[in-house]
Amino acid sequence: MSAEMTTPGAPAALPPRGGAASGPASAVPRRPLEQSPKIDVRSLRKAFATAKGPLPVVDGVDFSIADGEFVAIVGPSGCGKSTLMNIVAGFERPDAGEVLVDNEPLRRPGPKGIVISQHGSVFPWLTVQQNLMFGLNGLTHGDPAAQAALADHYAAMVGLKGFEQAYPHELSGGMLKRAEIARALVVKPDILYMDEPFSALDALMNLRMRNELLRVLSEERHTVLLITHDVEEAIYLADRILVLSPRPATIQARFAVTLPHPRRLGSPEAQALREAVLKELGL
Ligand SMILES: Nc1ncnc2c1ncn2[C@@H]1O[C@H](COP(=O)(O)OP(=O)(O)O)[C@@H](O)[C@H]1O
Ligand SMILES: [Mg+2]
Repeated sequence: MSAEMTTPGAPAALPPRGGAASGPASAVPRRPLEQSPKIDVRSLRKAFATAKGPLPVVDGVDFSIADGEFVAIVGPSGCGKSTLMNIVAGFERPDAGEVLVDNEPLRRPGPKGIVISQHGSVFPWLTVQQNLMFGLNGLTHGDPAAQAALADHYAAMVGLKGFEQAYPHELSGGMLKRAEIARALVVKPDILYMDEPFSALDALMNLRMRNELLRVLSEERHTVLLITHDVEEAIYLADRILVLSPRPATIQARFAVTLPHPRRLGSPEAQALREAVLKELGL
């Protein structure tokens, strides 16, 4: 059982709250877990073998994510964020500890989750529409016209209307990223794992994608684990923020973000939270 589960619960609905950054990180309130968590991460450890000997990268990480909750993990570059994500998503095995999804030990990437990474995952030889339909093939035996309509719906949702027949090489970086997000969402995954999904985008597109994501999540409540080095992105999007230490990664602080959506990053509460998170990061 993770230590986090013993902390006092917060109301299930996220109420507006005055001082998001008030209170010590160790006393962060959180939603009660009526049922077992969607994702339960227990005592993970991981070291990589290198020429100079073992390189410890994850050093005892415990957390859980409730069904429908949005958790962001922030940490300095190279601290082990992607390694942790790879373990939590089932792509990498930990040296010790375990990951449970719906109470089942995860030993390989599960069918319930989908990863959106910094690196592209669209097929270059397929059009936007075909890429989106590709994700549907395994799930439905519906007629191609219905699948194409669903693909087009998600393409439009991320602002790619009119580009359904375009190939990836015809898209800008931002459009490609949006195609990827649409491709992940179209299969309606239980869990979205996102490793710095917007970091390659320009600032305006980054802001736009945050809003697109929130809009989609308000319609379709996925459980989300977001890895980011962008504290404001985490505050804008997440229900909770976990701050990692420098490598080897441990959880240094936990913050609940109970500000109502749409959030104003310039608000005193958001600014106070930003300060508190940055302080934990040593900035
Ligand atoms: N497969 C690997 N073999 C050896 N070292 C690795 C491997 N993957 C990552 N590392 C090292 O682990 C550390 C953490 O990497 P990573 O998890 O990618 O950090 P982050 O995503 O926080 O920037 C880095 O020092 C990196 O060089
Ligand atoms: Mg990384």
